[in-house]
Amino acid sequence: MADSKQQSRSSAESPQPLSPHSAAFSSELPNFAHPSEEEFARILDFYGLQWMYEPRSFLLRWDGERTREMFTPDFYLPELELYLELTTLKQSLVTKKNRKLRRLRALYPEINIKLLYRRDYHRLLANYGFGPLARADVEGINRVLLTTRQIQKRVSELGRQVSHDYRGRQPILLGVLKGVLPFMADLMREITLPVEIQVMAVSSYQGQTRGGVQVTKGLDADIAGRDVILVEDIVDSGMTLNYLMRYLESKGPASLEVCALLDKKVRRIVDVPVKYVGFDIPDEFVVGYGLDYEEKYRNLPFIGAIDSYKESPK
Ligand code: IMP
Ligand code: MG
Repeated sequence: MADSKQQSRSSAESPQPLSPHSAAFSSELPNFAHPSEEEFARILDFYGLQWMYEPRSFLLRWDGERTREMFTPDFYLPELELYLELTTLKQSLVTKKNRKLRRLRALYPEINIKLLYRRDYHRLLANYGFGPLARADVEGINRVLLTTRQIQKRVSELGRQVSHDYRGRQPILLGVLKGVLPFMADLMREITLPVEIQVMAVSSYQGQTRGGVQVTKGLDADIAGRDVILVEDIVDSGMTLNYLMRYLESKGPASLEVCALLDKKVRRIVDVPVKYVGFDIPDEFVVGYGLDYEEKYRNLPFIGAIDSYKESPK
């Protein structure tokens, strides 16, 4: 039975918090093994995601009663029923961790666990302007990922699809500033329904500051009982979107769907349902058509990839 292979570290070793950490209730942090874990915990706090640090150890190999190998994932996100393991270590150690993860998945198929590589973690930080990738020199646009024509064609398809799905209704297109501006402006002109428009703005993670996401520009009008389509430029980790969805759901809309121009699925931490996706894109930092790198490039009419993600040689 799977239960006999589980051990709670909290009973065996130093006491661990039994209730999930939430910035709303506590500002005390556990003793993290690595500074990156602490920074990551801050990001989770910022986005209002509850977490527990190393709440459970999984038995991977045993000899009768003797434990031969254990694995303790760094974080557990109870609302998402998701374990996260941060690996900021050397590549050779990553291989070993991957092996452990495969074993864990085989023994505990009901457990949902994701491994965040050093690169994923640095990119996440870089989105907020931190870490070794944030200050990388941008030598300009590397290459065009999506041409103006490709974007126009796809946006027009999305508009047609939305018009079809919402026939007879009057949805609110709710855009999240600032990156969404070109997309929203084009999308609404491809929708053949009497839509209403609203825009919101939220702050993103600023490092060691206290408090969570701030809605810096709120809703213009009540959305209770309305069909809302949240329009986003890009979904990356999904943390911003998850926060926004919870915020908007609390306002009682009749329906709430997401329409995102770009989706970096491979980087998802929080699985938010995105009904309309313009393009699935690979794990690259992209700019243009509203998207910025340090506020630059938003006005490009196409979407390009830049080199800001190049790891500094170690
Ligand atoms: P998430 O909370 O990680 O999904 O973050 C989404 C936000 O990160 C977006 O609204 C963008 O502001 C920013 N972002 C993520 N990836 C990119 C990118 O490739 N180019 C520009 N901004 C990005
Ligand atoms: Mg944004």
